[in-house]
Amino acid sequence: MKTLIQGGTIISASDEYQADILIEDEKISLIGDNLSLFDTDLVVNAEGKLILPGGIDVHTHFDLPMLNTVSSDDHYSGHKAAAFGGTTTVIDFVPQSGSDLHKDIDNWFEKSEPKAAIDYSFHMNISIFNQTVANQIPDLLKMGISSLKVFTAYNNTLRIQDADIFRVMRIAQEHGFLTMMHAENGDIIEILVQEALSQGKVTPEWHAHTRPSWGAVEAVARGVSLAAHTGAPLYIVHMNAAGEVDQLAYGRDLGIPVMGETCPQYLFFTVKDLQREDGAKWICSPPMRSEEDNERLWLGLMDGTIQVVGTDHCPFFFDGTKPILYEGKEIKIPGKELGKDDFTKIPNGLPGVGDRLPILWTEGVGKERITLNRFVALTATNPAKIFGLYPRKGAILPGSDADIVIWDPEKQVKFGKELSHQRTDYNLYEGWDLNGFPEKVFLRGKCIVDGSSWFGKAGEGQFIKRSAFNPVL
Ligand code: URP
Ligand code: ZN
Ligand code: ZN
Repeated sequence: MKTLIQGGTIISASDEYQADILIEDEKISLIGDNLSLFDTDLVVNAEGKLILPGGIDVHTHFDLPMLNTVSSDDHYSGHKAAAFGGTTTVIDFVPQSGSDLHKDIDNWFEKSEPKAAIDYSFHMNISIFNQTVANQIPDLLKMGISSLKVFTAYNNTLRIQDADIFRVMRIAQEHGFLTMMHAENGDIIEILVQEALSQGKVTPEWHAHTRPSWGAVEAVARGVSLAAHTGAPLYIVHMNAAGEVDQLAYGRDLGIPVMGETCPQYLFFTVKDLQREDGAKWICSPPMRSEEDNERLWLGLMDGTIQVVGTDHCPFFFDGTKPILYEGKEIKIPGKELGKDDFTKIPNGLPGVGDRLPILWTEGVGKERITLNRFVALTATNPAKIFGLYPRKGAILPGSDADIVIWDPEKQVKFGKELSHQRTDYNLYEGWDLNGFPEKVFLRGKCIVDGSSWFGKAGEGQFIKRSAFNPVL
């Protein structure tokens, strides 16, 4: 099958030029002028449109068990929402249940393989660490899993001690893994949560008050120092506070191999959103901060301190007692109502995988906070390079997978849960006016989204093996 995309303007992380793109089967075979001279099966007119590499969201949690429920997008519905938002590759976190990493990865393959509708890979959580686990970590590379997530919070569940993070990072350094860190101060959170509950402070805003930003700043500084001690690259996930950006900048200025990611929710929302009647919708960890934090994060995106915009997509229903219609079927999954009398029982996480590109486009490119090229770098090219997918993914180059978004910069939409396609009953950006939206999305040469039509299929997404020893950007 040969497809020609004709007359569009290609945007890369560093360039903007008009050219045709020839796709042969799953790959881009040629980029140039007048490629209509070639015999093709399909011609797609992209005049007046922008051509972007398919987005890569390196931070998703599909079908994740949490607090007596499960995140409400699985590896099909989440992939479909991603595709409608212009994302063609996702990297999901494998939770660790014990000392057998192979068992946990097999379990995540069982859940994802039959459902995957876009390409995907896995990170491995290291939330239990011992010699058996240490011995298995190098095996993950053979499976194409080259990143590990550690936690300095969620005491007694996901957190491991600093000494073990240090040990994990040494293994990572030796074998070429990237360590990712959830940076909050778990001990302080424990104390503040107990105090809040004993004083009857149970509303959603207390989720934020009990997870203070200084704890996050301190944990990022700790991460930077662990990267300095070990020489191992470190990637701070879901950055949310101004001081975190300062700590990251400090480390980077010294040449310590540290990088960072933020997510759209931290660019727009604050603790005030948790004070609303429906504040539980905004509960995620780390929490929303202040307007000053929003602005410092934007600055970090502009000046290169932060390299990636992910989503931390981990949706729950706001009211999981009422069903929604999904692909013609009623679906109902317990959600945020589980914590209506106690914020510690609200499952933490937000929808976002389908929102990321459209929101960042209007608010970032449209408002001249970031350039077109930076948009591509943050959402596709940098994630591909940092996580060992480049140049197969994250680029429009001959030989790359034909993961392509034809973007209509003139399209105006009123955004919300219908357009985001996420399988939950709310959207954080409900009613926002957006200018610019994906028109067609190609996954390895196949058009899976055309306007409002869906042509993707469960099982057609491929697991992509990632490489080790990737660059620090
Ligand atoms: O609240 C969140 N972010 N839930 C997902 C787990 C995590 O820490 O990323
Ligand atoms: Zn996290
Ligand atoms: Zn997460």
